[in-house]
Amino acid sequence: MGHGKDWQQDVLRELAGTPNAETDQPATPPAARPEPPAEHRDPPRESAPSTPPTPRGVRNPRAPVPTPESVPTVDPRLALALGPPRHGDSVARRTGRALRKLTTSVGQEVADQTRLVQELQQPVTTGRVVAVTSIRGGVGKTTMSALLGRVFNHYRHDPVLTLEADAALGTLPVRMGAESVRWSCSDLAHILTPDMRLTDITGYLVPVVDGGWLLPASRGRVGAPLDMRTYRTVTLALRRYFAVTVVDCETLPGEVARTAMDTAHARVVVAPMTAEGVNGTRVVLDWLARLPHSALATAVVALTAHSPDATLDLEAASAHLRETGVPVVALPYDRHLAQGGPIHTAVLGRATRDAAIRLAAEALHRAVRVR
Ligand SMILES: Nc1ncnc2c1ncn2[C@@H]1O[C@H](COP(=O)(O)OP(=O)(O)OP(=O)(O)O)[C@@H](O)[C@H]1O
Ligand SMILES: [Mg+2]
Repeated sequence: MGHGKDWQQDVLRELAGTPNAETDQPATPPAARPEPPAEHRDPPRESAPSTPPTPRGVRNPRAPVPTPESVPTVDPRLALALGPPRHGDSVARRTGRALRKLTTSVGQEVADQTRLVQELQQPVTTGRVVAVTSIRGGVGKTTMSALLGRVFNHYRHDPVLTLEADAALGTLPVRMGAESVRWSCSDLAHILTPDMRLTDITGYLVPVVDGGWLLPASRGRVGAPLDMRTYRTVTLALRRYFAVTVVDCETLPGEVARTAMDTAHARVVVAPMTAEGVNGTRVVLDWLARLPHSALATAVVALTAHSPDATLDLEAASAHLRETGVPVVALPYDRHLAQGGPIHTAVLGRATRDAAIRLAAEALHRAVRVR
């Protein structure tokens, strides 16, 4: 991993020692039914560099913020190389499921789905933040965040934000289908003021194709990388406007990831379906258990398969993680997700969709109800 061998202890110490400032701080409740987001637009060039009074907790330097250039998320030549989206399930699997549907009772399935939808649609009095992280890179954090953002947006009628909190070059805009990005977290930290309305804010965000909003961490290598202070400033300010914010964090023990984990209302820990991945994730859960605030009680594990040939026993792996009391949801290997590029929900495998819905419901339940 390339980190000092005591980094786990550092994480524990730091999380334990840091007051849970954001979650403990009252936020202005969003209206029961906030006004719908306006059509995405670039804020007029003269409106962006405004210098309103400095609000508490929001940086507002005297210097105006110039409108950044729009940067494509993928080189158009590469976008062509991606090819058409593959369906997550093979034709044989889809046919088999259609046949099974004709012969089996769906009563239990419907009751289960109704419960999950109720969970996903429950009212929130203050914006809830769900942070997604892992102890290894490349295990599916961004993919999971994009799925969660889309599930919340699909089921909720209030605004949902998917926010990238990766200090490195993140891939969330690509996965969310954004063709270009302009404003980043770092820019918004200088722009946000408490008197802004939702429609003012969404002018700085990327509208997601299926609905909802996206805020990238940076403009690739062009912009300033995200830091902890910027993350705190922006998430604290934006919580007033968005019922649910899904945060795609960098890998632990990065500073921004630790801050996001500490200040979120619920945590999704992504574990790859390998012996090392499950083992490392169990270590993370054991630290969470020793934290003073209810970090473990608000955690959910997403056990993710990266290969159709994974041989690790799913039951045994889940049981090992569940010993901590944390629910485990298995995200199966999905051909569409493996393909990379923008995620098209219509071609996701059925089991992938079910897992994403279950995970979103478990996370929101904890974000709202667990103290
Ligand atoms: N359920 C899945 N089925 C198949 N492939 C998957 C699945 N989940 C993720 N992948 C693949 O795994 C790779 C890594 O995913 P992703 O970028 O989401 O990981 P990450 O943890 O965000 O990585 P990083 O640490 O670089 O930010 C991607 O190529 C993605 O296509
Ligand atoms: Mg990522």
